[in-house]
Amino acid sequence: MTPEGPHFNLGARLPDPITPEAVRTDYTPKIFGRRILYYESVDSTNNTLRQAASRGEPEGTVVLANEQTAGRGRLNRRWISPAGVGIYMSLLLRPDTSGTPLFLYTFLPAVATARALRRVSGLPVFIHWPNDLTLRGRKIAGILTDIRSGRGHPREVIIGIGINVNNMPADLPSELTETATSLAMSAGRRYSRANIIQAILEELERGYALMRTGNLVDILDTWRKLSPSHQGTPVEVVGGPGKSLHGTTRGIDDDGALLIQCADGGLERVAFGEIRRVRGGKRRAPGS
Ligand code: BTN
Repeated sequence: MTPEGPHFNLGARLPDPITPEAVRTDYTPKIFGRRILYYESVDSTNNTLRQAASRGEPEGTVVLANEQTAGRGRLNRRWISPAGVGIYMSLLLRPDTSGTPLFLYTFLPAVATARALRRVSGLPVFIHWPNDLTLRGRKIAGILTDIRSGRGHPREVIIGIGINVNNMPADLPSELTETATSLAMSAGRRYSRANIIQAILEELERGYALMRTGNLVDILDTWRKLSPSHQGTPVEVVGGPGKSLHGTTRGIDDDGALLIQCADGGLERVAFGEIRRVRGGKRRAPGS
């Protein structure tokens, strides 16, 4: 039996709490996670944190939920969020500078989450432009950053992170069985969600501290290293404002937009949408 195969038997599900107490076991948050608002079930942790932010919650506040009933994904998609198996978390930033390019508020969590998942699981997690996380060619996590600006300055940044951790095939929607996976399905063992959340908070805080000092190179360099598909990969771009586009990836520009070289040699700049790898004209799973 391969871990990705249809017959899983990982034994009985043990309790895997993600309460503030569980997250703070053997871990003392500095700023990110000092305040954790935990819910058994919410519509969307990003929505819940938005409301908490308007009540004046401080930077570093985290909303965690054991389940989401209306999890939101990019491009107006749903994020299927069954109880007890995934991580659904949102983090509040209150930037004090307008000097940080906005796209870094999605690149930062992509890098932090990839590094955290690699550290905890040892698995080869990669980033797929703009901010999908993939494992062996299948999507394992996604990032949704909501930014509220005032006077040209980002006032509230809500970073939402969704990860398939201990999902079994039955926990994934049937239309995603070919393109998505979970850590447990890929590795054949379960992981502590609290340990992963701790690692993500640490990585986010470290990266954000660098960003605030104006050191953007570290995040960009790490993003590039963890995202081999942004350079020299034949792809189809879908979901953006224009019609779908075929070409080869040629890196990202200073605004985080993807550069695509088309068959006629022209270079197109893609700021929005997602890419699917294609080979021999045939479409493959996203992130593969
Ligand atoms: C994507 O489409 O890839 C982004 C998915 C983001 C899902 C997370 S789960 C926690 C947070 N709350 C939401 O409603 N969405 C994000």
